[in-house]
Amino acid sequence: MSIIFLSDNSSGVHENVLRKISEVNQGFTFPYGKDKYTAEAEKLFSLLFGINVDVYFTVNGTSANITGLSSVLSSFEGVLCADTTHINTDECGAFEKFTGAKIYTVENINGKINPEQIAKFLHFKGNEHHNQPKVVSISQCTETGTVYSRDEIKALANFAHDNRMFLHVDGARISNAVEAAGITVKEMLTDTGVDFVSFGGTKNGLMMGEAVVFLNTELSRNMKYIRKQSMQLVSKMRFISAQFLAYLENDLWLENAKAANNAGKYFKEKLEGIPGINIIGTVDANIIFAVFPQHVIDELIPLDYFYVMDPLERKVRFVTSFNTKNEDIDSFILKLKEVL
Ligand SMILES: Cc1ncc(COP(=O)(O)O)c(C=O)c1O
Repeated sequence: MSIIFLSDNSSGVHENVLRKISEVNQGFTFPYGKDKYTAEAEKLFSLLFGINVDVYFTVNGTSANITGLSSVLSSFEGVLCADTTHINTDECGAFEKFTGAKIYTVENINGKINPEQIAKFLHFKGNEHHNQPKVVSISQCTETGTVYSRDEIKALANFAHDNRMFLHVDGARISNAVEAAGITVKEMLTDTGVDFVSFGGTKNGLMMGEAVVFLNTELSRNMKYIRKQSMQLVSKMRFISAQFLAYLENDLWLENAKAANNAGKYFKEKLEGIPGINIIGTVDANIIFAVFPQHVIDELIPLDYFYVMDPLERKVRFVTSFNTKNEDIDSFILKLKEVL
């Protein structure tokens, strides 16, 4: 099966998550998140972040980003982010449709942005001819597979707050980032001053489930209405919450992320030194980019081992998952060497 490295969305559901869904499938309970499992899962998030957070579950990463951002932004405001961010490139204009606000992009540096880059938008503030910069949004891990350090996040949060803005994190792969950094969620997100996070689950062992976590609880004031209006208030919420119970209990999120990141490291080691293959940038977590010879791409593309991210530059992407095995990587490397 060659689809293994296409995306961490190609992976399945962790057995503990499936078991938990089955466990909560007992009798009747209150709908729309008023059930005890949702309350328990919300508590676990507060423990993880080390403060009382407001949590809103949604079914996918796009909706987590867009409901969260919609609840903070008015149409005359804007978000500052890297040109590569998912909200800008891969959400089919959902941000624009649902917020009516503007995305101000800055050129990414290894997938990241820094305060100096966003400073140049500050002169828009107070000028009615421009959408007002209100939120800085970063992805962690980034779309280029890098991971922001704690200091980099702190610098962005401080800069945002000093200029009356908020910091949002698209954490579709936040568990991979936290594991890779070797720090806690509290250290990465709470202590650095992040305001709200799309906390991913689907890519790391859930069937479907993401959480919009507001560390700055004043910002969540409109979220329950926005979530319903955005069609993300799941009526049988207990089955989303149950997944997060399994995910957060006993640190399954961390265990899964470690497995995915270790597979990423192994993949990189195996690719390194193969003549004709150039790994691009660093492999901080579970995403590997490389430049492949054209004939290799042509031969392997029908086998669905990778996505070609840039056909002109012959740039391909691999993603490892919580259940990727070293043998899967070994057999791909064998195939690659054959084709080479
Ligand atoms: C950085 C990032 N954000 C968000 C998402 C979530 O997207 P989806 O709506 O497909 O779950 C993804 C998925 O590819 C992603 O890579």
